[in-house]
Amino acid sequence: MSGLDVRSFTVGPVQENSYIVRSHGTAKRALIVDPGDEAERLLGAAAALEVEIEAILVTHCHFDHIGAVAPVARATGAPVYCPQIERGVLADVMQWVPPGFGPFESYEADHTVAGGERLSLAGLDIEVIFTPGHSPGHVTYAIAPSEPAESALLSGDVLFQGSVGRVDLPGGDWATLERSIGGLIEAFPAETTVYPGHMGVTTLGRERDTNPFLAELRSKVATTAVPGAAAGS
Ligand SMILES: [Fe+2]
Repeated sequence: MSGLDVRSFTVGPVQENSYIVRSHGTAKRALIVDPGDEAERLLGAAAALEVEIEAILVTHCHFDHIGAVAPVARATGAPVYCPQIERGVLADVMQWVPPGFGPFESYEADHTVAGGERLSLAGLDIEVIFTPGHSPGHVTYAIAPSEPAESALLSGDVLFQGSVGRVDLPGGDWATLERSIGGLIEAFPAETTVYPGHMGVTTLGRERDTNPFLAELRSKVATTAVPGAAAGS
């Protein structure tokens, strides 16, 4: 059975994308990635799909990505995987929420990830990649189905369709984010689907070739590609 099934739900006041992911369209086990808000809507969607939520994955702990973690975890009993460096934010959410948003409930992560882990959850093989720059502990979850052309990145606020994550929040740094994006582009095929934390779905190749924020990265790649080309590879 093939065909990774990814459902997107844009939630909350800053239009964050939460995802329900399962290995194929009739799979009974699923993940929720970045349940940012509207817990009831996400739980209702899981019920409508008749899936059991086996884990909750968090890319980073900005409030718009974690606002519904606690109620979704409580309702499903699913363990929460959170970036190690940012677990303190999830454990004390309201300390970091700007005025006018929330209230959100804190949660003590069941597991922490720092990058380099391989998770096997809901019948999916998931690689955790450290992708800081937008936030200090940010991770990307790479889902590696048996068919490489179907690889998918749940990449939070690293890379968007025609844009990139902001770097002006605490712990943000453009050079670091650019390195993180470059690492993903190097590690995965161009046709890899990117499911970002805001806005529409894209592919690594499309962003590599057209994203205006990656012009400098493109020139670096072009420069470093020359010796290989000269060697006839
Ligand atoms: Fe963010």
